[in-house]
Amino acid sequence: MTSLLVTGASGLLGRCLLDAEWSGGRVVGTYYTTPIESGHETVHLDVRDGEAVARLVERVDPDVVIHSAAATSVEACEDDPKLAHGTNARGTKHVVDAATAVGARVIYPSTAYVFGDGGPVHAEDDEPAPMNRYGRSKLDGERYVQAASPENTIVRFCVVVNLGPADSPDFGSWVRGRLESGERVRLIDDQEITPTVLSDAIDALGYLVEHETAGVFHVASPDRLTRYELGVEIARRHGLDPDLLEAIPIAEMDWQAPRPDHLCLGAEKLSQYGYQTTRIRTE
Ligand SMILES: NC(=O)c1ccc[n+]([C@@H]2O[C@H](COP(=O)([O-])OP(=O)(O)OC[C@H]3O[C@@H](n4cnc5c(N)ncnc54)[C@H](OP(=O)(O)O)[C@@H]3O)[C@@H](O)[C@H]2O)c1
Repeated sequence: MTSLLVTGASGLLGRCLLDAEWSGGRVVGTYYTTPIESGHETVHLDVRDGEAVARLVERVDPDVVIHSAAATSVEACEDDPKLAHGTNARGTKHVVDAATAVGARVIYPSTAYVFGDGGPVHAEDDEPAPMNRYGRSKLDGERYVQAASPENTIVRFCVVVNLGPADSPDFGSWVRGRLESGERVRLIDDQEITPTVLSDAIDALGYLVEHETAGVFHVASPDRLTRYELGVEIARRHGLDPDLLEAIPIAEMDWQAPRPDHLCLGAEKLSQYGYQTTRIRTE
């Protein structure tokens, strides 16, 4: 059975990875600021500390490292280049070097933000051209992962949404929670995304672990929609009032980091393996 080290196990994806049915062997997860309770061993790790990363990976000696730890706030990364580079680029190099030293394969969750404008839908082999610091730092991380071994895998996600009833720290749960409380929700209606359904992300990672599939993969819904349209779908699925949603232009977000008009991934390669991602539009 595959033994697994999951960095960022206290995050949205990492938590689900610890609980995933397919992660049947030994699993160790790491947290940074938020200790977690789990049936698995969990340990503190700051990926910016190269020696600590090397010590942990040597001790755990996993078959596979899913390196999910990252500075994920696009705005915080834009504000703080040291945070973005130190965590997403250098931190990833530390993890990749340590994994390579023990012969472990690395699976690296990455992001649609490695692409800029163009498209509208980006394929796995399109040339990355990030527009913001978060995207650039994640692309640097991808390059370390790719350079270390042809066995390694990069899995790019778009905006991850939980469409189910359980609460998690994601866009879908946030919208549902606000609508359930009868609050108005203002959502962008002039930028298209191809959301990644949380369960698709976890299942695809399981598939890639199990089948030892290397290369670059995208996991995203075939449906292109704005966050406002996604909000309408979430309201419809949970029997909530879509009239509480208000469509706004992206300019009203007052975001500092530049963003593309289309943040869209095509999940062609996975579909060639017979893996279909979830449709979001119900009409
Ligand atoms: N969620 C999305 O919409 C999305 C979309 C595209 C790509 N991705 C990618 O998917 C991966 C997981 O995303 P996520 O949504 O699960 O992120 P998240 O919920 O923001 O969690 C980030 C994780 O990284 C950990 N972390 C942050 N700084 C660290 C450091 N210096 N050293 C060690 N750990 C650190 C955090 O630990 P603490 O919480 O304990 O501080 C947390 O466990 C990331 O690589 C991200 O780029 C996510």
